[in-house]
Amino acid sequence: RILIIDFGSQVTQLIARRVRESGVYCEIVPFQKADKCLDLVNDHGTLKGIIFSGGPASTTEEFSPRAPDGVFKLGLPIFGICYGEQTICMQLGGAVETGHHREFGRAFLEIKDDCDLFDGVWAKGEKHQVWMSHGDKITEIPTGFRAVGVSDGSPFAAIADDVRKIYAVQFHPEVMHTLDGAKLLRNFVRKVAGCSGEWTMKGFRNEAIAKIREQVGKGRVICGLSGGVDSSVAAVLIHEAIGDQLTCVFVDHGLLRKGEGEEVVRLFRDHYNIPLIHNDASDLFLGKLAGVSDPETKRKIIGGLFIDVFEAEAKKIGGAEFLAQGTLYPDVIESISFSGGPSVTIKSHHNVGGLPARMNMKLVEPLRELFKDEVRMLGRELGLPESLVGRHPFPGPGLAIRIPGDITRDKLDLLREVDAVYLDEIRRSGLYDQIWQAFAVLLPVRTVGVMGDGRTYDQACALRAVTSTDGMTADYYPFPHDFLGRVATRIINEVRGINRVTYDITSKPPGTIEWE
Ligand code: XMP
Repeated sequence: RILIIDFGSQVTQLIARRVRESGVYCEIVPFQKADKCLDLVNDHGTLKGIIFSGGPASTTEEFSPRAPDGVFKLGLPIFGICYGEQTICMQLGGAVETGHHREFGRAFLEIKDDCDLFDGVWAKGEKHQVWMSHGDKITEIPTGFRAVGVSDGSPFAAIADDVRKIYAVQFHPEVMHTLDGAKLLRNFVRKVAGCSGEWTMKGFRNEAIAKIREQVGKGRVICGLSGGVDSSVAAVLIHEAIGDQLTCVFVDHGLLRKGEGEEVVRLFRDHYNIPLIHNDASDLFLGKLAGVSDPETKRKIIGGLFIDVFEAEAKKIGGAEFLAQGTLYPDVIESISFSGGPSVTIKSHHNVGGLPARMNMKLVEPLRELFKDEVRMLGRELGLPESLVGRHPFPGPGLAIRIPGDITRDKLDLLREVDAVYLDEIRRSGLYDQIWQAFAVLLPVRTVGVMGDGRTYDQACALRAVTSTDGMTADYYPFPHDFLGRVATRIINEVRGINRVTYDITSKPPGTIEWE
């Protein structure tokens, strides 16, 4: 395996992606924790190489981040990227100066010499496009290194120490705009570090099953299902590992999309034969939500009730030591990563992964090393239906946060119909997989219309569709006008009670994806 030491770059996760695409397993650790993790990983003797990420700091500042000195003593191959290169130079006896010649965006690297990192990719004398983003400049490299690539602004844009197997580059090989960047990372992990490249989803599945068996033994596990991809994949994987020692609990808050609750029950109980408790708690949830309009209050009520109901079911099952969660790698990194200070809560998130420590159970988190699209691959590997595996994200509080104002069963039913027509039209038009998330919002306004020869005074709805890679930022999806016209006509014709359709063209920021 490969360890990536994170110095705070926006694109560290991309390094991990490229490494895994080369069939090599890797983990990211923030630089402050690198020491501890090194011991850990090295204990198992499986660590083959280390990558230093980029980062926003300047190595010329006092107290700027450094790799633990121990890293250089391990004798393992190292690959430094951007800030990573600069800190290697600073720590091993070179020099960095600040602010002379900044390079941002496209640059051209001239290959001065061959080295193992470039093997089969770039050769001496060639020029290749790379992507730069740095303000500091290396002015002296440590003993043992030679320059193997230069750019207009960087005499040491790529350096190599073949004896110690330390390579470093000023550009970002992990981004798409460094056209051969993925091949360089592949060379590092496969040729330089000597990883075998056999990490596949099938291998992961078998490994994960063995780990779950080892962790759980003969114990009982409870897993909260939401109908989403992560909890479903976790449940099927765990069931494959320990069979009926697993019980799934599906707390149905009555805020799901049309037909979704039934689908969860059918799939898990009937298709997979996984023991499933289906608690239809919609009366309870809708009762407590009656008359509540404030978005945060709605979220808190739903999150709190969900935990109460889940806990009560867990008690009924009795004797369960373990709680399974579909925690993903980005959640893990975010929670251990350093942050730039206290951040503002925009929304209180709630999902089945957020069950509290107060349940006093040990966690089983078989997906905590995977990215979202890897979870989808694993889901396919496990034979889950494409309709579930490829499903758009859906928020824990469900349709409650897509109905501004108070929530009633009638409004929910109306929204479900609108949403179903909208998604059906998106699927029929072949657009579903190009969109990160698409949904309808029921607006708390009635508007005047004319249908046939009569006047109508019905409700308006808004449609939303966004593109995104992680939900943190998003842009509205540019539907062709004929699609928008078709879907508006269908909604008004097929859903009684709606007489006006609008399309939300707000990006995030300044909007959020959900309306509440
Ligand atoms: P916002 O609205 O904050 O949403 O731009 C970003 C992404 O998060 C989803 N979302 C949630 N997911 N529990 C969840 O599991 C929640 O409480 C929640 N609120 C928003 C939202 O659908 C989008 O994908």
